[in-house]
Amino acid sequence: MTKDELKQEIFGLIERYYNDFHATKKFEPGVTKINYAGRVYGAKELICAVDAVLAFGLTAGPYAARFERELKGYFKSPGFLLVNSGSSANLLMVATLLSKQVEGCLKEGDEVITPAVTFPTTLTPIVQNGLVPVFVDCEVGTYNMNPRLVEEAIGPRTRAILAPHTLGNPCDLDLLARLCRDKGLYLLEDSCDALGATYDGRPVGSFGDIASLSFYPAHHITMGEGGGVVINNPRLVRTALSIRDWGRDCWCEPGANNTCGRRFEWQLGDLPYGYDHKYIYSNLGYNLKVTDLQAAIGLVQWERALGFIKARRENFAYYYRALKPLEEHLILPKVDPKADPSWFGFPITVRDHVERNELVRHLEEVNIETRLVFGGNILKQPGFKGIRHRVVGELTETDRIMEKTFFIGVYPGLNEEMREFVVERFMSFFKVAV
Ligand SMILES: Cc1ncc(COP(=O)(O)O)c(C=O)c1O
Repeated sequence: MTKDELKQEIFGLIERYYNDFHATKKFEPGVTKINYAGRVYGAKELICAVDAVLAFGLTAGPYAARFERELKGYFKSPGFLLVNSGSSANLLMVATLLSKQVEGCLKEGDEVITPAVTFPTTLTPIVQNGLVPVFVDCEVGTYNMNPRLVEEAIGPRTRAILAPHTLGNPCDLDLLARLCRDKGLYLLEDSCDALGATYDGRPVGSFGDIASLSFYPAHHITMGEGGGVVINNPRLVRTALSIRDWGRDCWCEPGANNTCGRRFEWQLGDLPYGYDHKYIYSNLGYNLKVTDLQAAIGLVQWERALGFIKARRENFAYYYRALKPLEEHLILPKVDPKADPSWFGFPITVRDHVERNELVRHLEEVNIETRLVFGGNILKQPGFKGIRHRVVGELTETDRIMEKTFFIGVYPGLNEEMREFVVERFMSFFKVAV
């Protein structure tokens, strides 16, 4: 038997295994969990993962190279790098701006404007790198930074804006891009929840100098643990690559040598002439790389991304229509007129007379999963107490989101029966007949 024939036999067995043991289970109302998110996949993910294992390259290889090329094409960006998580992507965005290689790099004590309702590892790279976050209040409805407050937040030491597109709902990118252009600030987009969202017809993630993506299983596509950075500013491509790969100056793919063609002819730093380029470090870097096994799964998921995004939008539209009659109790999501979100979840803020936790309990009791908008007011989190920061105005809406908001899932694993069951449960809480 040839290698290819043997592989085909293995792949056939995997397909059988997938059909027998990974098939979707029947929905039993109240018993089957209606997840807020989850992996949706076919036999092809398993087959390509095994293919990567059989090749046993282990580190990033052909699957990673193809996945990076595809995403670079989608974003039409000068650079796209896979990393091992969305958190690593955020870290890489911030660390890149701090590199001495970058003209006008950020320095300790410089300020970065960012929302107070945030995911922890959107904020931590700012704090861990000695930068000062400047918090602005968020808006109920969009759950993004209140755009009217961003300009007010800019001070003499402000150098960047790090804007998450919360739950896949794009920020006012016209305003943020214009402010950054006019004031000479870097724009970083946390697009971890927003793959496929567009603003004015352009993909979110293609506006900032750099943008981050997460491919954790809860996200639009997954590679297990994984993420990526879209590098739109061509001056940052090589630095970001270096920081992802230990801080080295060399840009050889894993296992390759002498890509630059002058491996032993460099003169950098105080090193002797000809010191092996592979071991020259121009940055204080990390190792944030992925394996080809992860990339193989990610690449197949990417083929399915358009379908996933469509399903998310349909689920969102279904809930929006169905929950509209409850607007006297609930505040439904709001969207910028130029934005076409790619929803991560369906956010709901209960009005003052409703106890959020009671509604959440009513849903969770029958296995309808709910989630809060991440850290709420992040300054109230134990780990973030005492961090150096500045606040612009009051964080009134931020606190309201912390106390009154939650979200339910819109991921492609939902079916009609599940959605109907979720809506019935909302109606029963507010005693509205369906
Ligand atoms: C807005 C945002 N940023 C960053 C992350 C971190 O991504 P990861 O879990 O891949 O580290 C998440 C995770 O859900 C997120 O929602």
